[in-house]
Amino acid sequence: MFEQEQTSSPLILGVLASGRGSNLQAIIDAIEEGRLEAKIALVLSNKADAFALVRAKNHYISTVFVDPKQYERREDYDDALLKTLQAHQVQVVVLAGYMRLLTEHLVKPFHNRMINIHPSLLPAFPGLHAQRQAIAYGVKLSGCTVHFVDEKMDNGPIIAQTTVPVLDGDTEEDLAGRILVEEHRLLPSVIQRIAEGKLRIDGRRVLHLEKTRFPLEINR
Ligand code: GRF
Repeated sequence: MFEQEQTSSPLILGVLASGRGSNLQAIIDAIEEGRLEAKIALVLSNKADAFALVRAKNHYISTVFVDPKQYERREDYDDALLKTLQAHQVQVVVLAGYMRLLTEHLVKPFHNRMINIHPSLLPAFPGLHAQRQAIAYGVKLSGCTVHFVDEKMDNGPIIAQTTVPVLDGDTEEDLAGRILVEEHRLLPSVIQRIAEGKLRIDGRRVLHLEKTRFPLEINR
């Protein structure tokens, strides 16, 4: 059983993002609006042109682009990320649309301190194009999942999930948009729970020390 410590406030975050960064923006907004007791120490990306980096700069947050081409092995790349995160005293790593497989070099040091958001109700539809997979399969409900990260993709203990309906005639974009609204509410809520030390990890199960309906009311 692993009990999350209540961290000194604010919780220091490192955000890894590869793309448009709307989840990063949701975290920034929650912090700026006083709904989330955290500070983003830096935003790291494997893509030089990730819009997430622009969003971070707009809010005077440090950004680092680490070029995968400079590293022969994935492990070396992850070592470089690890050093950067440690240099910024990052306590919790948030994968917010980070489109690169992680090695244990990065996952182990942040065991129980790294979370990911995925646009499906895991364990259904892991991997790429989760929304497309959901429509093709014909499910009537989908949603998003925030989970701790382990060595396998989209696999670690689930912290919280939100559901949305899948409607007749939905395109992939329709469903992605509906899920994204929920992602932006769920992710900051979960980070706030971590900042408050309110989670306990028991094997695959994440227990909430206080009964919580996600997303938290305060994030609405
Ligand atoms: C989100 O749908 C997230 O669930 C997935 O990648 C997407 C990232 O979107 N992991 P954004 O870059 O945060 O806008």
